[in-house]
Amino acid sequence: MAVREIMDSLGKQTVNNRKLSELVKDIKLVGDKLELIFRLPNKNLENEIREKALSALKDVEGVEDIEISFEMEQPVQSPAFHRTRLPGIKHLIVVGSGKGGVGKSTVATNIALSLSKLGYKVGLLDGDIYGPSIPTMLGLKNQRVEVDKFNRIIPAEAFGMKVMSVGFLLPSEDTPLIWRGPMLMKALTQFLFDVKWGSLDFLILDLPPGTGDVQLTLAQTVEIDGAIVVTTPQDVALSDVKKAVVMFKEVGIPVLGVVENMAYFVCPESGNKYYIFGKGKVLAFAQAYGLKILGSVPIEPEISETSDSGVPIVESSTNSQSAKAFLGIAKIVAEELERR
Ligand SMILES: Nc1ncnc2c1ncn2[C@@H]1O[C@H](COP(=O)(O)OP(=O)(O)O)[C@@H](O)[C@H]1O
Ligand SMILES: [Mg+2]
Repeated sequence: MAVREIMDSLGKQTVNNRKLSELVKDIKLVGDKLELIFRLPNKNLENEIREKALSALKDVEGVEDIEISFEMEQPVQSPAFHRTRLPGIKHLIVVGSGKGGVGKSTVATNIALSLSKLGYKVGLLDGDIYGPSIPTMLGLKNQRVEVDKFNRIIPAEAFGMKVMSVGFLLPSEDTPLIWRGPMLMKALTQFLFDVKWGSLDFLILDLPPGTGDVQLTLAQTVEIDGAIVVTTPQDVALSDVKKAVVMFKEVGIPVLGVVENMAYFVCPESGNKYYIFGKGKVLAFAQAYGLKILGSVPIEPEISETSDSGVPIVESSTNSQSAKAFLGIAKIVAEELERR
């Protein structure tokens, strides 16, 4: 809880109209020793930030030894490159996480399907070129796609959505794929531009894991309207997701908010809630970065069962907690983007 208190205290001080908590790049509390790294908007602010931080923290209990350091803030790059808008697509949303295995594809698929259920025209693009999982999740394992006479790929369809995945191009399900970096990039760009998406309200792109070149190149090639960041409450996942958030901010992609996946487990016998990976950590993280929590999705065994069987939970079990959470997230995302 101490980190939370530290962030709250820092949030009460401002420098250059920005809350100190928003300038925290990293925070580490070991015992009573606190290490803080601030992003420095400009060199002259170093002393002011240090003084205000120390004064904000002097009454926080359990913190004795404070070490403060700085990293120059990367200015948001004004696009020297030309970003293209995908024709016919109203909102292009990327779903990213930093770390693999946190449920990114599950979240991307269920949000896409929820948006479709809300009446929007939706496309879902599986950006995981090395390990595509969306075909399985949507019951499209043996699906293959063809091109029209203009050499445009005709996407598959599932539950009213247009879907594209590299899995649809493989000769058979077990064929291993060997890609090199540039090919990966080319494939993704091609899936964005050369697939016959038609006119869509939302195209949801499930990004490959990590914060590497693919994400950066993509951000420079195509206009992206927002990013949804997925994390679990574990520290390892959070520390990776921080990097993803910083990267999105640096390339000027607005982060719509955070989805906390595997937030808790409800025991079916007792109905008690258990916060298996810890409680409050994602909230503290979101506050530290000035981000909204779009929703919290519980651990439900049915989620993994339904991914394997090809019918996502928002379709198979509309009354489950997770389905309700996904629908809520989709509503927030739609409202946020339609408002702009
Ligand atoms: N909230 C959840 N409850 C239970 N299982 C989940 C949940 N979210 C994801 N899973 C399962 O965890 C595994 C990894 O999810 P996946 O979406 O493939 O992760 P990623 O795309 O981040 O690698 C899958 O088997 C999925 O069904
Ligand atoms: Mg995935």
